Amino acid sequence: MSIYFDNGSTSFPKAPGVGEAVAGLIAGGAFNINRGGYAGAYEVAGTVYETREMLAQLFSFSGECKNVVFMPSVTYALNTVLKGFLRPGDHVVTTSMEHNAVMRPLVQLAHTGVLFDAAGADCRGVLDPDALEALITPRTRAVVVTAASNVCGTLMPLRDIAEICSRRHVRLIVDSAQAAGLFPLSMDELGADALTFTGHKSLLGPQGIGGMIVRPDFAGEIEPVISGGTGSMSDSEEVPPFLPDRFEPGTLNLPGIIGLHCALRFVQSTGIDALRNHDIALTGRFLKGVRTLPGVRAVGLPGTEGRAPIVSLDFTGRDNAAVSFTLDSEYGIMTRCGLHCAPRAHKTLGTFPHGTVRFAFGYGNTEAEVDTCLDVLRRIVQA
Ligand SMILES: Cc1ncc(COP(=O)(O)O)c(C=O)c1O
Repeated sequence: MSIYFDNGSTSFPKAPGVGEAVAGLIAGGAFNINRGGYAGAYEVAGTVYETREMLAQLFSFSGECKNVVFMPSVTYALNTVLKGFLRPGDHVVTTSMEHNAVMRPLVQLAHTGVLFDAAGADCRGVLDPDALEALITPRTRAVVVTAASNVCGTLMPLRDIAEICSRRHVRLIVDSAQAAGLFPLSMDELGADALTFTGHKSLLGPQGIGGMIVRPDFAGEIEPVISGGTGSMSDSEEVPPFLPDRFEPGTLNLPGIIGLHCALRFVQSTGIDALRNHDIALTGRFLKGVRTLPGVRAVGLPGTEGRAPIVSLDFTGRDNAAVSFTLDSEYGIMTRCGLHCAPRAHKTLGTFPHGTVRFAFGYGNTEAEVDTCLDVLRRIVQA
């Protein structure tokens, strides 16, 4: 038996056809775009362009799709925006629920004189937007926030935060890692300045491809952290000022983009509502079952309202890591234990430093798998 409940880390299975699409490109002619002047390269370039269009559509961005920039991951995109935009003396506001993809760049920047404050969520991971607004000062240049906690799934009040950012004239940077492909995220409605994404979680694509959608006026204020050849402006040693080249130096991960293209087709044709409803129904079933288990606390919100399909369990009186190990080694149930790269979130939820066992459901999971897992957990807690 093998049950995969680590979709918060990376989704499995990937969307149908993704593996074949990636392999097909490599076997059939992995030609570089923007460099080769032959039909095969133009064909790949066409698919890359189409992938930008699909992402612009998915995130309701009505601007030009050249503002969709490919990078290896959301981590790279967040680093690019934060390190390229903030200068010593600038202030940035974030939350206590962030992944280290946000926190580590901020702490690095703090060593160079950038100031940051993190608005504290409550012990369910719920953030009061007023608490965030109270931290904004005249020096605040940006708010950076995750759309959903990767530890307990709690959704952040993005609309309220967006309204605050617009009223207080600060840039809004969104980390969509745990929400993209499941929840509607609209660049236009939010007025977000940069929406960063990663292709391998609920977008159901391969690892190693992600990026950001960035508003053109904001892009001009972000100094690229990495620079190099782009196949454009080759007579110049200056970084091209235009998008996407400004942030896409070096050879792109074309197999990754082709895989993501295939995955996005699946997400589009299935619909994010259907994908979310499936995952959330499993989350609800799991939460209901967990409530009947003695000595187990599900951290975060009590139900599925306001949460992504993630459940973190704290086994009181037991070693969470040992539970996760038993689940895998004896029952083939794959989860993730520990702090999930988000120590501050665990401090907020009261699960630091021991961490939790995280169950993250995906489109490949079934009710039968959830029920099997609940039976196994019952056996473990009664042992
Ligand atoms: C909320 C959040 N942000 C950022 C990341 C980093 O994603 P990646 O490793 O794809 O850059 C993750 C991954 O777990 C995440 O959950």
